[in-house]
Amino acid sequence: MRIDILTIFPEMFDGPFSHSIVKRAKEKGLVEIHLHNIRDYATDKHRRVDDYPFGGGAGMVMMIEPVLNCIENLKKDRDYDEIIFLTPDGQMFDQPIANQLSVLKNIILLCGHYKGIDERLREHVITREISIGDYVLSGGELAAAVVTDSIVRILPGVLGDETSALSDSFQDGLLSPPVYTRPADYKGWKVPDILLSGHDRKIAEWRHEQALERTRKRRPGLLEDDV
Ligand code: ADE
Repeated sequence: MRIDILTIFPEMFDGPFSHSIVKRAKEKGLVEIHLHNIRDYATDKHRRVDDYPFGGGAGMVMMIEPVLNCIENLKKDRDYDEIIFLTPDGQMFDQPIANQLSVLKNIILLCGHYKGIDERLREHVITREISIGDYVLSGGELAAAVVTDSIVRILPGVLGDETSALSDSFQDGLLSPPVYTRPADYKGWKVPDILLSGHDRKIAEWRHEQALERTRKRRPGLLEDDV
């Protein structure tokens, strides 16, 4: 899979993409992540990417041209399955959307700034709009990093143990059950006996019950969605 990220702050991605699972996925050649500085596609000598809003008001608006130049340049070399704009008024991101995106070949993530981007880009160029939550970030970069991370970790071959992404919270519509490791007794804090029993079927049943219980208590809405 290939992910192209359009941003005015490419340095913001240095951290999230150079560690842990995303780093490993890149090294294994399972994902290519390309960062593009929108400012490099500005057409004036000041490399301007934003301008005042028509009709007045506070804040600046990202201009059509630099963004579109960058996208057109990328489209010369390949087709894109989705051109996604990260925005607080987009569709709420969740695991099913991460799963959908993870089977695509090429996607563009566009990070907005200031008051937003010129609406005509949203009308004519953007194919999908995603929000990562009902709060406003300073820009789309952290949202793009979140979306990228959640996609990359479920690409086939990225996680060593293939079942491990499938048993994540939300993959079966349930939260994950509690997990424990050594010691079995930490100063009187004990691991549930069933997990030490070696009885695989009973352990699986216990985990399922715990997952249901946890979901019922913490996120009952997840159970209602199914009915
Ligand atoms: N840009 C600013 N806030 C955002 C959010 N909550 N989700 C996605 N993109 C954003």
